[in-house]
Amino acid sequence: MEIINGDTKELLEAQAHVWKYTFNYITSMSLKCAVQLGIPDIIYNHNKPITLSELVKSLSIHQIRSPYVYRLMRILVHSGFFSIGKHEHLEEEEEGYILTASSRLLLKNNVTNLSPFVLMITDPVKVAPFHFMSALFQETETIPIEAAHGMSLWNYCAQHPEFNKCFHDAMACDANFVTSVLVKDCKTIFEGSQSLLDVGGGTGTVARVLSEAFPSMRCKVFDLPHVVSNLKGSGNIEFVVGDMFNFIPSADIILLKWIMHDWSDEECVMILKKCREAIPSKEKGGKIVIIDIVIQTDKRKNDESTETQLCFDILMMVVLTGKERTETEWEKLFLEAGFTSYKITNALGLRSIIEVFP
Ligand SMILES: C[S@@+](CC[C@H](N)C(=O)[O-])C[C@H]1O[C@@H](n2cnc3c(N)ncnc32)[C@H](O)[C@@H]1O
Repeated sequence: MEIINGDTKELLEAQAHVWKYTFNYITSMSLKCAVQLGIPDIIYNHNKPITLSELVKSLSIHQIRSPYVYRLMRILVHSGFFSIGKHEHLEEEEEGYILTASSRLLLKNNVTNLSPFVLMITDPVKVAPFHFMSALFQETETIPIEAAHGMSLWNYCAQHPEFNKCFHDAMACDANFVTSVLVKDCKTIFEGSQSLLDVGGGTGTVARVLSEAFPSMRCKVFDLPHVVSNLKGSGNIEFVVGDMFNFIPSADIILLKWIMHDWSDEECVMILKKCREAIPSKEKGGKIVIIDIVIQTDKRKNDESTETQLCFDILMMVVLTGKERTETEWEKLFLEAGFTSYKITNALGLRSIIEVFP
């Protein structure tokens, strides 16, 4: 019997909506578990659809745990991370798990492997501050990460080498992902430049790929001591220790990938002003290249992407002092820091490339 009462239908749909979002973290944690177990690589190496019992065997776990694997795979098939395929060559067709475009992005040997990013975002260090989110709305206005760990994210990284590695592995995997698109589709942004400084460039993955793609461009990676002091440059790459709030070395192009969204508007204007002092005029090729989210305000655009952008915004609010910005908010920062124009290229999916000119 179907319920036809409109009020009841609306009530039940509303309950389903509340539950869906309440339970969302369970899907994230199931994905994390599959990454920790190495399931995407097991399926890939199997070369054909893998049955449940084959998967359990490959996981080297007791068959008695097979129902757990079945249930884990069921939710991940439902959420599109895996799919069910058939062994084509068998007379008696048997179904098995196969990869989807999303789980192919979790393969360890793939240059666009996003597994380290999944592990970092779901790490207890990153999740704990969310239990203190309400601290933001109290009189004392404490940053949740400080309530959870007693220090800023950057100090936490400096004092906890294991999490620092987890964080920079995630950054490096994203850097590989982004540069694979940059050097393929956005070459003109860097062509003809003599030098590039990657401010907050982490362990140098972006600089390494760009320096290979543009061998005549000298690349410097600028970051805090705990990130770069033990790294050695080679070829046209150099590592420089520093604090971007104190001094930024000069270069034709200053790259700020995933930097601005870490900081408040006031802090961003300070960084941008320092960058402006460090680059030549527009005519001489000076510019800032920002890689960050520009929040979609067009309601007709993909809702799922907008929701992810807004999740990133909350992440920045909880673990740092930063935020994601709309184009209008970006423009305000650029004008306040004394820049004259900018150009947005939407070539990176959820993020954009913003060239900012003095
Ligand atoms: C979100 S990560 C981005 C890393 C890299 N740009 C990427 O996208 O892969 C931010 C980086 O900024 C660095 N950072 C934080 N505060 C800094 C400061 N005051 N001066 C220089 N770098 C800083 C961090 O150590 C970290 O490597």
